[in-house]
Amino acid sequence: MSGSVRVLLLLLALDSVAPEGVPGREGGNVLFIMADDLRPVLGCYGDSLVKSPNIDQLASKSQVFLNAYAQQAVCAPSRTSMLTSRRPDTTRLYDFNSYWRVHAGNYSTMPQYFKSKGYFTMSVGKIFHPGVSSNHTDDYPYSWSVPAYHPPSNLYENEKMCKGKDKQLHANLLCAVNVTEQPGGTLPDIENADEAVRLLRSRANSSAPFFLAVGFYKPHIPFRIPQEYLSLYPIEKMSLAPDPDVPKRLPPVAYAPWTDLRKREDVSDLNVSFPYGPIPKDIQLGIRQHYYAAVSYMDRQVGRLLSALDELGLADSTQVVFLSDHGWSLGEHGEWAKYSNFDVVTRVPLIFYVPGVTSHPDSSGTSTFPFIDVFDKAEFSFTNHKEIKRMVELVDIFPTVSALAGLRVPKPCIGISLQEELCTEGDNLAHTFRHRERGENAEAIAFSQYPRPADTPQNNSDLPSLEEIKIMGYSLRCWDYRYTLWLGFNPKTFEANVTDVHAGELYMFASDPGQDNNIYNDSEHSMIIRKMASLSHTVTLQTRLKLQLLYFTAGMKTR
Ligand SMILES: *[C@@H]1O[C@H](CO)[C@@H](O)[C@H](O)[C@H]1NC(C)=O
Ligand SMILES: *[C@@H]1O[C@H](CO)[C@@H](O)[C@H](O)[C@H]1NC(C)=O
Ligand SMILES: *[C@@H]1O[C@H](CO)[C@@H](O)[C@H](O)[C@H]1NC(C)=O
Ligand SMILES: *[C@@H]1O[C@H](CO)[C@@H](O)[C@H](O)[C@H]1NC(C)=O
Ligand SMILES: *[C@@H]1O[C@H](CO)[C@@H](O)[C@H](O)[C@H]1NC(C)=O
Ligand SMILES: *[C@@H]1O[C@H](CO)[C@@H](O)[C@H](O)[C@H]1NC(C)=O
Ligand SMILES: *[C@@H]1O[C@H](CO)[C@@H](O)[C@H](O)[C@H]1NC(C)=O
Ligand SMILES: *[C@@H]1O[C@H](CO)[C@@H](O)[C@H](O)[C@H]1NC(C)=O
Repeated sequence: MSGSVRVLLLLLALDSVAPEGVPGREGGNVLFIMADDLRPVLGCYGDSLVKSPNIDQLASKSQVFLNAYAQQAVCAPSRTSMLTSRRPDTTRLYDFNSYWRVHAGNYSTMPQYFKSKGYFTMSVGKIFHPGVSSNHTDDYPYSWSVPAYHPPSNLYENEKMCKGKDKQLHANLLCAVNVTEQPGGTLPDIENADEAVRLLRSRANSSAPFFLAVGFYKPHIPFRIPQEYLSLYPIEKMSLAPDPDVPKRLPPVAYAPWTDLRKREDVSDLNVSFPYGPIPKDIQLGIRQHYYAAVSYMDRQVGRLLSALDELGLADSTQVVFLSDHGWSLGEHGEWAKYSNFDVVTRVPLIFYVPGVTSHPDSSGTSTFPFIDVFDKAEFSFTNHKEIKRMVELVDIFPTVSALAGLRVPKPCIGISLQEELCTEGDNLAHTFRHRERGENAEAIAFSQYPRPADTPQNNSDLPSLEEIKIMGYSLRCWDYRYTLWLGFNPKTFEANVTDVHAGELYMFASDPGQDNNIYNDSEHSMIIRKMASLSHTVTLQTRLKLQLLYFTAGMKTR
């Protein structure tokens, strides 16, 4: 099918606002790029310090979702939820210890769906979380046409690879290295990009469309990154989080004590007080510097991938999606890492490049994604092609990517959908590509949740195993506030007890964008109750309705 015919069909598909895609029509390729623990520290999301020219260039030809949220701010639960388009209460994965197909239901994944439609599907790096949660195979053979690729150098990621002040090697958090001195003279994300480019080349002339998922490991800790990237962020230019203290009215159950950082040798040596710290200020600046450097290093690998797509002549037939599994606290609220419900850990970048829709590659031979070397040029200037402000969720990705590829969109899940192999708990966002955003922002909501073993921070608060979970923090984010209820939770029945409210959080964005002033106890909650009531007719998903009712009831009780 010629490019222009494909684009025309795609436009027709987008025009049918109905949740159905266009069955039986061939779509283009999909390049699905994930970062790990990346909050929107990107130029295209308004961060003026970071240097992310390659992702910014992608965004300049894409639709950028400014308010996209993960369903649970930790790797395996978020990835499993996103890839199956089911919320954690349906995958029943809140920790790292179960495989949904045997533990919850035999749900199809997005790559599995594409595979069933004739796509050649491939996984490079970290897409599924490795280990039990993807049956030690990254869900091969269900999701992938060939076994998933893991870069050999990743074996060393948590080893003693970082030169300390004593010139000895340590398993540090801050780990800027001379790459030539690392095993194999490389690093995992460099190997990921190498392999992904090889795979693109091998598929370039194939008649079957491909779905290539590439999961980069950075900016996840440890910050084992090429040392030269630190020079982009001189330490004297770094600043602390605007709100580096633990908020006075933060319920203790909401606090995550970042135990993963404490385990790294350099942090452990600081004898930081448990659970609240703080980490010494100079180290806080160092962590922020290394995080930013890790983002620029990852951006370079994305640039290598996109320029290869371009050079192989695939940029006008390949949809590109860029996202992260969740965010990361950079010292806000006295927290680091993820493991909570705040925006800094639940909000993620979400960018869709759709050739012929978000961008019109011209035939004059101008490249779409020329590689940009961040060390060559100090200033970059890109403007996003189109921004969408409404709240969206990672469970929306599966139906949306399917629709954009011209595949039939999985039907909405109804009720408890454990027996249903293929359905979605997300929304198909394809219509947002076709139309201007109308004033619907205020109605959309994003749900996230986080489990806890106790009311106060413990050494297992960040990542309780299923049996240890006693409380679930259900959180909703809408246009003007974030509302969280910490409810008693039974890990045997997977049920929350709406009359057992352990704590609540309410943050109003107009006056408190950083979510530092919890007004839950001061408020009437009647405003939220009204809002919930007005929302209930616009949502179709049983799960959402259930959650809203749950907030509604709890709000009444705690008034
Ligand atoms: C799960 O679904 C796949 C196909 O989607 C099928 O091959 C497999 O047999 C199913 N497994 C179970 C236990 O039902
Ligand atoms: C998980 O892996 C084991 C060992 O390879 C295999 O026997 C089992 O069938 C797999 N589970 C599913 C649901 O495919
Ligand atoms: C990196 O290591 C190599 C091999 O030991 C050495 O030749 C090179 O000078 C080092 N580069 C820097 C910037 O330290
Ligand atoms: C694809 O085919 C074209 C035309 O035969 C050829 O010029 C090109 O080198 C091939 N590309 C790859 C990556 O094999
Ligand atoms: C809110 O009220 C509850 C119940 O009276 C109390 O236990 C809690 O400490 C209060 N929280 C704040 C932040 O004032
Ligand atoms: C941390 O505690 C150890 C053992 O008590 C001590 O030797 C070390 O000096 C302490 N480090 C700092 C930074 O206070
Ligand atoms: C966590 O705390 C519990 C109870 O305080 C203790 O028994 C356990 O050894 C601790 N585990 C770790 C890994 O520190
Ligand atoms: C729910 O919580 C309430 C209040 O703590 C308690 O009385 C009730 O027994 C709980 N219900 C269940 C099913 O556990």
